[in-house]
Amino acid sequence: MSTTPVPLVIDQLIDDRRTRIIVCCGSGGVGKTTIAAAVGLRAAERGRHVVVLTVDPARRLAQSMGLTSLDNTPRPVTGIRTGGSRRPHHDGSRDEPGPADEAGQAHGGSMHAMMLDMKRTFDEIVESHADPDRAAQILANPFYQSLSSSFAGTQEYMAMEKLGQLRRADEWDLIVVDTPPSRSALDFLDAPQRLGKFLDGRLLRLLVAPAKLGGRTGLRVLNAGFGMVTGVVTKIIGSQLLRDVQTFVSAMDTMFGGFRERAEYTYRLLRAPGTSFLVIAAPEQDALREASYFVERLERDGMPLAGLILNRVHRSPAARLSAARSLAAAETLQGLDDSESSALGINALRLHAERMRQVESERRLAVRFTAAHPFVPVAQIPAQPDDVHDLNGLRVIGAAFTGE
Ligand SMILES: Nc1ncnc2c1ncn2[C@@H]1O[C@H](COP(=O)(O)OP(=O)(O)OP(=O)(O)O)[C@@H](O)[C@H]1O
Ligand SMILES: [Mg+2]
Repeated sequence: MSTTPVPLVIDQLIDDRRTRIIVCCGSGGVGKTTIAAAVGLRAAERGRHVVVLTVDPARRLAQSMGLTSLDNTPRPVTGIRTGGSRRPHHDGSRDEPGPADEAGQAHGGSMHAMMLDMKRTFDEIVESHADPDRAAQILANPFYQSLSSSFAGTQEYMAMEKLGQLRRADEWDLIVVDTPPSRSALDFLDAPQRLGKFLDGRLLRLLVAPAKLGGRTGLRVLNAGFGMVTGVVTKIIGSQLLRDVQTFVSAMDTMFGGFRERAEYTYRLLRAPGTSFLVIAAPEQDALREASYFVERLERDGMPLAGLILNRVHRSPAARLSAARSLAAAETLQGLDDSESSALGINALRLHAERMRQVESERRLAVRFTAAHPFVPVAQIPAQPDDVHDLNGLRVIGAAFTGE
């Protein structure tokens, strides 16, 4: 069993013009937003026209990309470095470096970034499908308001929706998608359809049915049955809310081909040629377990996995000194003298031992992952001493994309 993974060369992925969508997935807090931004920047600086769709970026990172307000439109990122295309042309020549352009244009490449505003995205769907009066009625509906701002799965649904819109706009040759902060990476794939099913589903239809069937005499008995169901549900969720749901669903029903169909459209987009998934994990047990599930799921659904990014991997500056020897040295030193400077040395040795243990545990977890998924390419991104919050920080992350 091989435990040395195939290297994942992210530069190759972003340099390949056939790559049109890169989706960064992973469980909560592993670095999805950071990696998505770093991939976008790197790709732009290597000559591609990129838009990065971020979800809930940290404030300073957002600011560094020129995202000061949540307005749901791609904004040009300034400060892209115009090294020119580092990729050779077919004839072997390369672009010459040009001066920086302040409008997000690099020589040959450009970068736009946006933050997903899920409520705004939902509102836009309504506005573009309903006449103004009806749209206003829906937007004011309390059920709609809670659905569009807080319902589980709405963020994932809207991220997919926005991805579909960006793809249809066809203004960029590469779309990098960050995914919402959910506990499980699978939510990104499942939540939209779950929400679509819920909105198109039987329960809601049942709730709405009495209102629709109301006048018809032949259906009285049936109607009474529905009435009972509605009665029970009313007790649970309250009659006002139920009325809101009913008006909302009947209004929506006439506007759409249905939520489920929309969700399925973008789902298909994810399986189309040109889409690649990057699964991101911290070198920790839980994150890697999630990554395993995700990898298996992609495989089952025939979705193209580019590889695993192990983010925040620790290294030791003195890897030849093992944890055990370092601790032994600390012990010896402690026995020898108790001066301040030797206390400092003892501390350093202990810290080193701790770091070495961490390095070793991360290595073991990586080996275990590769043993279970020998064909999944892996890239490692070193842990930085500080948070990543500006373009330079993103460039440092991107420097690990060479696969070396
Ligand atoms: N390689 C790294 N070295 C050091 N810090 C990092 C690294 N990658 C990410 N971070 C930091 O870790 C924090 C979490 O990263 P990020 O926001 O990208 O994760 P996320 O997966 O998008 O989280 P969420 O699930 O909440 O959306 C940020 O403060 C970021 O700056
Ligand atoms: Mg994030």
